[in-house]
Amino acid sequence: MQIVRSSEELTKARAGINGKLALVPTMGALHAGHLALIDEAKRRADRVAATIFVNPTQFGPNEDLARYPRREEEDARLLEDRGCDLLWMPGIEDIYPAGFATRISVGGVSERWEGEARPGHFDGVATVVARLLLSVRPDIALFGEKDFQQLAVIRRMVVDLGLPVEIAGVPTVREPDGLALSSRNAYLSAEERRRAVALSATLGAARDAILASRPVGPALTAARESLRSAGFSAIDYFALVDAATLEPLDAPAGEMRLIAAATLGATRLIDNLALSI
Ligand code: PAF
Repeated sequence: MQIVRSSEELTKARAGINGKLALVPTMGALHAGHLALIDEAKRRADRVAATIFVNPTQFGPNEDLARYPRREEEDARLLEDRGCDLLWMPGIEDIYPAGFATRISVGGVSERWEGEARPGHFDGVATVVARLLLSVRPDIALFGEKDFQQLAVIRRMVVDLGLPVEIAGVPTVREPDGLALSSRNAYLSAEERRRAVALSATLGAARDAILASRPVGPALTAARESLRSAGFSAIDYFALVDAATLEPLDAPAGEMRLIAAATLGATRLIDNLALSI
C-alpha cells in the first residue's frame, strides 16, 4: 500500500492508478465497520484508496475533536492487511489551504435530526467529502449506513453538484450483542458498554412493534422510556422516517428507517434500522 500525505504526492499517485477506483473516506480509529467498507470497495473496483482525516469543520465547539482517537500507524497496518492500495492522510493545509472560504451546505435532508442536534455538522461533512472526492477522483465512494443521514446528505450533494462518482452505502457492522461499531464506542466505560446494547435492542423492539401494527406514536414513546430506564439521557431523537427523504412518519409506509441518537454518560451514540412494509 502506498501512503501519501501532501496533495502533490496524491496527484502523482492518482496518475499511476488505472482501472476503476473506489474511495473509502474515514477519520481513522478504524474498526471492523471500516474494514467492511474496504472489502466492499474491493468487490466493486479494481483499486481501493482510503483517506484518514479528522475533519475539524464537522465538530461543534463542545464536541470531541481534541480527544477523537488518533491511531495512524495501527490504521495504516489494518488497511494494508485488508488489501487497500493507496492511503491519503492529508494535513489540514491540504484540505483547507490558506484563504479557504467555501462551505457546502446541503438543504432538505440535512436539516432535521443530526442537523438540529449538531448545527453546522453536515456543512463540514459535505465540504470535506467534496474536497476528498475532487482530489482523489474515484469512480465510486463507500460510506457506512450507520451514519444514515450523512449518507443521504452526501448522495444529495453528489447529485446536486453533478459530481461524477457513484455513492454506495454499506450495512452497519455490529458487535455480537447488537451494538453498532463506532470509533466513539472507545469512550464507553465497562458499565456504559454493558448498557449501550439497549440502543440497538430498543430499535429492534420498536421495529417489531411497528411491524406488528402497534401505532407508531406509542411505539416510539415506549422506546424512549426504555432507553431512559437503561441509563441513556438526552435522547436527541428516536423517530420513524421515510428512508429517502428522512421526513418523520406517523404511520408505516414503504421503505423506512428507525433512527435514534442518545447520550450515555458523556458519549453520544447514534444507530438506525431499516424496515419496510
Ligand atoms: O463518517 C466519517 O468518518 C466522516 O464523517 C467522513 C465521511 C470521513 C467525513 O469526514
